[in-house]
Amino acid sequence: METLTIALPKGRLQEQVLGLFAAIGHDVAEKAALSRKLILPDVTGRLRYVLAKPSDVPVYVEYGAADLGIAGLDVLREHERALYEPLALGVGRCRMVLAGPQAARGRNLRLATGLRVASKYPHLATQYFQRQGISAEIIPLDGSIELAPAVGLADLLVDLVETGRTLRENGLVELETILEVQAMLVVNRASYNLRLASIQDLIGRLAAEIERRAAEESER
Ligand code: PRP
Repeated sequence: METLTIALPKGRLQEQVLGLFAAIGHDVAEKAALSRKLILPDVTGRLRYVLAKPSDVPVYVEYGAADLGIAGLDVLREHERALYEPLALGVGRCRMVLAGPQAARGRNLRLATGLRVASKYPHLATQYFQRQGISAEIIPLDGSIELAPAVGLADLLVDLVETGRTLRENGLVELETILEVQAMLVVNRASYNLRLASIQDLIGRLAAEIERRAAEESER
């Protein structure tokens, strides 16, 4: 079988995703795992991992530089790209929320004027406010979004929450959930047709492992 190239997100999700692939027999070849290389073969030679910045993964896959990739639903919905999304991986679960100071609870945002909202997801944030009929200026930031309300840059924020610790420790509360997020497998459209057997085989084995984990979880 031919080698498939898979773009993986560096950072937070990387370990969990590599763990999932290791569980179906595609461990990273040992020496490479210890290096800072960005292209890592697996032990079988059937997969080649390329490590990209999370928000860049869909770009590698859409252009066919990788046949497949792993990306969060947050990234996929923020930058709509022409990709197949055949499988939710059950890892990297978190939620995108509207958050703000305690005082924002119970405030009628539709009546607010000059509202400023910090977010790493300007597209999704804009869509959300339009849907709600709330007028707001979205301030795009690249990280540490929780800082913005604390220093008066914004009134509210739209960001990911996993444990809730970052919000809590910065005196902020969740106001509403906008999107449930988890990691998704994405596939290049042309690769899917050209490498159908290899890709379907991989999807089938990943799906079985995800089901096995879910069953294990529900028994606990
Ligand atoms: C993410 C997210 C929140 C935090 C949420 O940031 O943007 O800031 O994690 O996690 P928690 O609910 O478990 O506290 P990340 O650490 O990825 O870095 P960033 O702020 O630079 O985006």
